Amino acid sequence: MSASHLSTPNELASAGISYSRKNPFPGHVLVNRRLNSPDSEKETRHLEISLEHSCLDYQVGDSMAVYPTNDPDLVDDILKALCANGDEPIAGLKGAPDTTFRTALLRDYGVTQPTPKLLRSIAQRASAAPLLKELLHEDRRHDLDTYLWGMEVIDFLVEHPSVHFAPQDFIALLPKLQPRLYSIASSLKAHPTAAHFIVDVISYSSHGRKRKGVCSTFLAERCTDSPAPIFPAVSKFRLPEDGDAPLIMVGPGTGVAPFRAFLQERQAIGARGKTWLFFGAQREKSDFYYQEDFESFIADGVLTKLDTAFSRDQAHKIYVQNRMMGSSGELWKWLEEGAYFYVCGDAKRMAKDVDATLREIVQEQGGKSVDEANEYVEKLKSDKRYKRDVY
Ligand SMILES: Cc1cc2nc3c(=O)[nH]c(=O)nc-3n(C[C@H](O)[C@H](O)[C@H](O)COP(=O)(O)OP(=O)(O)OC[C@H]3O[C@@H](n4cnc5c(N)ncnc54)[C@H](O)[C@@H]3O)c2cc1C
Ligand SMILES: NC(=O)c1ccc[n+]([C@@H]2O[C@H](COP(=O)([O-])OP(=O)(O)OC[C@H]3O[C@@H](n4cnc5c(N)ncnc54)[C@H](OP(=O)(O)O)[C@@H]3O)[C@@H](O)[C@H]2O)c1
Repeated sequence: MSASHLSTPNELASAGISYSRKNPFPGHVLVNRRLNSPDSEKETRHLEISLEHSCLDYQVGDSMAVYPTNDPDLVDDILKALCANGDEPIAGLKGAPDTTFRTALLRDYGVTQPTPKLLRSIAQRASAAPLLKELLHEDRRHDLDTYLWGMEVIDFLVEHPSVHFAPQDFIALLPKLQPRLYSIASSLKAHPTAAHFIVDVISYSSHGRKRKGVCSTFLAERCTDSPAPIFPAVSKFRLPEDGDAPLIMVGPGTGVAPFRAFLQERQAIGARGKTWLFFGAQREKSDFYYQEDFESFIADGVLTKLDTAFSRDQAHKIYVQNRMMGSSGELWKWLEEGAYFYVCGDAKRMAKDVDATLREIVQEQGGKSVDEANEYVEKLKSDKRYKRDVY
């Protein structure tokens, strides 16, 4: 039965419909627009997905799990490399009905990142794969990772045409296709029937092929006619209950998403606490997305301070942590007044650098030793006043 005409939890329940991780809600994409101007090096998109009739509930700070399907062109290339037509029967996953090879590759399995068992199987079957065989040794793990950077399943199939896999055997060497998480960039109080997202569309070239991130391009390119299956993922990245508590939010790039939701929420509930946002992007002219939103939050008094770091607008890089350091005295004052410190975005470098800068500021402005500054930051964490949502 279609749930589209049912709108209350009772109506959905009496019709036997409840959306869950295993039965995600089919969310129609209402808005999908590029946030950067055409001359930008990035493709960052603003998406709005309808939640109408879903009864899905979430709080600001939560993420949404999105269940993608794979790129049909890539699946066609894989079928071609395996000399398959796609109609071959495949056993359904965990009691699901049997399906075809093409549908299984599109819907059920990860077809980009090669698993060690697929690589091992190729190395055993290939007439010549000496380097791969060597790199699959236990002690060459790091070298294997370096070798695999920018390589996908299709490369190994094309490179070793002598390797033959029966469809069911090939499927057994693939991982299950996983949902991806996206921070929700809106508050239900401001937008009760849609969830907003900021998606960095992953697209790059390597080894002579154009590569696309599975889910970011699914959202950006393949949800026009069919819905995106979604389900909320609960997070601990929460606003303080006290609306008077000051907030410091550090969110470069897509990391700004939950802070847009925080500010919408604070606006909706009329919270009075002061707020400070550090936003960073490549260039002010092409990548200062949500500038109008931020200006209107400032005009409304919901956002007290906005500091921006446009890394590529000058010869040397300027990042959010440089802006923090530039206002270290005031930042320390806010912390001492009980501010909550939030960081969202890149885990590999940004979050580590911001953490190091925070410790430096506490040390310098608080007149503390390294150990005392570390203790202070650990206490912020245990008091749940320092929260990170990094990926
Ligand atoms: C809690 C949480 C919140 C998140 N919120 C957001 C959000 O708000 N917005 C957002 O955009 N993302 C967010 N993410 C990340 C998101 O979940 C996905 O990981 C991201 O969109 C990439 O997924 P994908 O399927 O498009 O790419 P995949 O198909 O999974 O490919 C990603 C992989 O591609 C490879 N890769 C990427 N670039 C290159 C390159 N230049 N060269 C070689 N290899 C490369 C890397 O191995 C990388 O791991 C969040 C993640 C978490 C855990
Ligand atoms: N795990 C995933 O699947 C996934 C998904 C999305 C994003 N990410 C990661 O998140 C990063 C950010 O992606 P995004 O699209 O949200 O933002 P982005 O636009 O790539 O970056 C935002 C800003 O952060 C800057 N930056 C780079 N290194 C930094 C550092 N060490 N400290 C502080 N700022 C730094 C960038 O500067 P420069 O670029 O000029 O150096 C840019 O100005 C990506 O590079 C990627 O590593 C991971």
